[in-house]
Amino acid sequence: MSIATTFQKKPETRADTAIVCIYKDNRLSSPAEKLDGNNDGFIQHYLKKQKKFTGKKGQILTVSAPKGSDYTRFILIGCGDAAKLNKEDCETSGGKLYLVLSAAGALRAHFFIQDDQARENITTEAMAAHIAMGVKLRSYKFDKYKGNTEEEKETLELEEFEVISDAATDAERLYGDLDCASEGMFFARDLVNEPPNELYPESFAKIIKAELAPLGVEIEMFDEKKMHKLGFHAHLAVGMGSARGPHVVIMRWNGSGKKSKEGPLAFVGKGVTFDTGGVNLKPSGGMEDMKLDMGGAAAVVGLMKTIALRKSKADVIGIVGLAENMPSHMAYRPSDVIDSLSGKTIEIMNTDAEGRLVLADCMTYVQRTYKPRFVIDLATLTGAMMVALGYDYCGTFVNDNNLWSQLEDASKDSGEKLWRMPLDKAFKKDMESKIGDLKTLGGMGRFGGACTAAGFLEHFVENDIPWAHMDIAGTAWIKADTPTCPKPGTGFGVRVLDRLIANHYE
Ligand code: BES
Ligand code: MN
Ligand code: ZN
Repeated sequence: MSIATTFQKKPETRADTAIVCIYKDNRLSSPAEKLDGNNDGFIQHYLKKQKKFTGKKGQILTVSAPKGSDYTRFILIGCGDAAKLNKEDCETSGGKLYLVLSAAGALRAHFFIQDDQARENITTEAMAAHIAMGVKLRSYKFDKYKGNTEEEKETLELEEFEVISDAATDAERLYGDLDCASEGMFFARDLVNEPPNELYPESFAKIIKAELAPLGVEIEMFDEKKMHKLGFHAHLAVGMGSARGPHVVIMRWNGSGKKSKEGPLAFVGKGVTFDTGGVNLKPSGGMEDMKLDMGGAAAVVGLMKTIALRKSKADVIGIVGLAENMPSHMAYRPSDVIDSLSGKTIEIMNTDAEGRLVLADCMTYVQRTYKPRFVIDLATLTGAMMVALGYDYCGTFVNDNNLWSQLEDASKDSGEKLWRMPLDKAFKKDMESKIGDLKTLGGMGRFGGACTAAGFLEHFVENDIPWAHMDIAGTAWIKADTPTCPKPGTGFGVRVLDRLIANHYE
């Protein structure tokens, strides 16, 4: 059950919990003052009796309400210096708030917020909307494989989060788009968290259709036979070792309602449902993480869900390349020379560098079929990217300064962090082969691996169209919970690309 988030000027229903903001040095917000007044100065009295809670940003205090109060408990959110507070702080506070609410067993909460402070980085309505977004994001759960023990059935879940403010109308409008993004992210998280015996190319394709077709997204699916016919030879090579054949899914959203002259926006996702490494088998320690190797496809699918939910005015194509990379007597080998849809031949250096092969054919297909305005691919492509940037920044390779500045803006707006990485002739050149046209590893092996992978993909960009490659190996998943996301799948990529479309292409 997901939380019902509502926005009202006055409380509509009764609630068990009242939430108010407290600023630096325990200055009460105006709703906190009111609550304090309605409860005979209880909050002021409580705060004076203790020293730890000072209203600092990030602090949260739960207080049992006094006898006779309308509420069971009060939750005080420390907001620090109102002038410095930003969106990210609000989402972090919202996430912490969710955990405190669920630990307390709260079912219905009133969150009071008013335009009573000098704020510089955020408006009151945005503050309300982003705190509500933090609550929603942290409420995500992936528990479909957990048995329904008595104990679990008794777990109390927050049912309603009611934001009460004079700015309710504007906050609700802002929250509308955020909520659509959260739904797309939850879909992406679900897909990443799903185990690979359940999520394999064919089942993945079916899930996409079942979820997106009812929202008005047109779906086209290619099975292995159709891929042979069309010539997806590089993608097919990756899937050869698996009993579960590869698939391609194309998702079309025609938001402009006409055949636009400019061409759609295209997003390509790597969907390797499990990456054993193939014949170049990965070491066993940590191999279980490789169920996340479809994080790029999950982000593209989540993005399509988000733009469909908010009825985007843009024309958007999503294409995901699905395959399972397994070792077997059928598998492709290092030193094989394979064909690709582009016509370029590829020398396989290491069967664990499989993502670039799947992406190459999908990139060729989407460019030749739809003549898009730009192509953006997302992929958990290289361990080297994680070595370079860790878990917070997504390394982004872009061949066009205008597209980069739009991405940078969308990144600031959404809070999903991007860092521009170098595309260089040297990396591209390094991927040319002696025996075929291209090879899958650069001369330095794993060194500069994220950059040479991008250099390989650059060979598949046609007519110099604007292109961005987002290596989400580090950002698609986390090893430990964060304030707004339980581990492992994050849904990274949905928010930033949704804002790219909304801010620059609608
Ligand atoms: N899926 C992996 C990259 C990856 C590693 C993603 C760790 C997330 C976490 C990719 O297919 C891969 O195996 N890359 C190799 C490339 C190498 C063989 C050039 C790598 O990074 O080691
Ligand atoms: Mn691999
Ligand atoms: Zn992989």
